Amino acid sequence: MTAGAAGAAAAPLVSVRDLAVRYGDRVVSAVPTLDVRPGQCVAVVGESGSGKSTLLLAVLGLLNGTAARVSGSVVVGGTEMVGVSERTAGSVRGSAVSLVLQSPQGSLNPTMRLGRLARHALRRHGIRGAEARRRVAEALEAVRLPADVVDRYPHEVSGGQAQRFAIATAVALGAPVIAADEPTSALDVTVQAEVMAVLDRLRREQGTAVLLVSHDLALVSTVADHVVVMKDGAVVDAGDVDHVLHRSTVPYTRALLDAVPRLGHDRATEEEVTGA
Ligand SMILES: Nc1ncnc2c1ncn2[C@@H]1O[C@H](COP(=O)(O)OP(=O)(O)OP(=O)(O)O)[C@@H](O)[C@H]1O
Ligand SMILES: [Mg+2]
Repeated sequence: MTAGAAGAAAAPLVSVRDLAVRYGDRVVSAVPTLDVRPGQCVAVVGESGSGKSTLLLAVLGLLNGTAARVSGSVVVGGTEMVGVSERTAGSVRGSAVSLVLQSPQGSLNPTMRLGRLARHALRRHGIRGAEARRRVAEALEAVRLPADVVDRYPHEVSGGQAQRFAIATAVALGAPVIAADEPTSALDVTVQAEVMAVLDRLRREQGTAVLLVSHDLALVSTVADHVVVMKDGAVVDAGDVDHVLHRSTVPYTRALLDAVPRLGHDRATEEEVTGA
């Protein structure tokens, strides 16, 4: 049984119901229902502007206090994120869900070594000292980064390493869900596969769930259990990966798939990708 199948019975870690995000009168992201369960990878795909990132921002409680009007419900680790205080949302971020962005190097403070950056993130959640060092060391091992990477500055690692480090920080925080917005689109194809393989292994070995936003259906086909297709702010198709990628009758999904020549390849294991 795969981690995804095992997760199907467990209670959801993220549960979205009747979510609608509006700017003015325009609904930019409407998601009737979406669950992420332990060990599952749920992918959100769709063209630029379809509302994917907005969905992630709502899940992380990052739209509260902005121009966005949010209705419906987003429960993360048992906490309702819609309309919640920044203090509460801030404590859920990191502990119940962690965000990994497209280009981690851009968002890492360039004046701090990676080890210090990780310890800062942990300290915000009350994890310090020997416990923090132990967690960081274990997380670096989990993403196959050398221990001495903690002594380097963000500009001293590659894009792929920076992305592994971002994932390691999420792992060290103990977040059961990693929300990733185009985590590999700034990386070249080999490194993309490597980073996805890291997420996939965390899923199998630690049951970490992944909510993955991606343009790349070929990539999604190799890692996702469940796929949500968005267009113009609405969900136009959703289902398990096999159904959406191979048996969907939704014209928009078919059109997206027709644009992907690589689809149909088997899932690559991390060992195949990295030669480890
Ligand atoms: N702060 C804002 N004010 C007004 N409109 C916004 C704001 N943020 C996003 N939007 C609009 O919401 C829509 C959805 O944006 P979103 O960033 O979620 O799309 P996306 O699917 O992530 O696109 P991409 O693939 O290009 O990242 C877009 O039309 C965007 O212009
Ligand atoms: Mg986006």
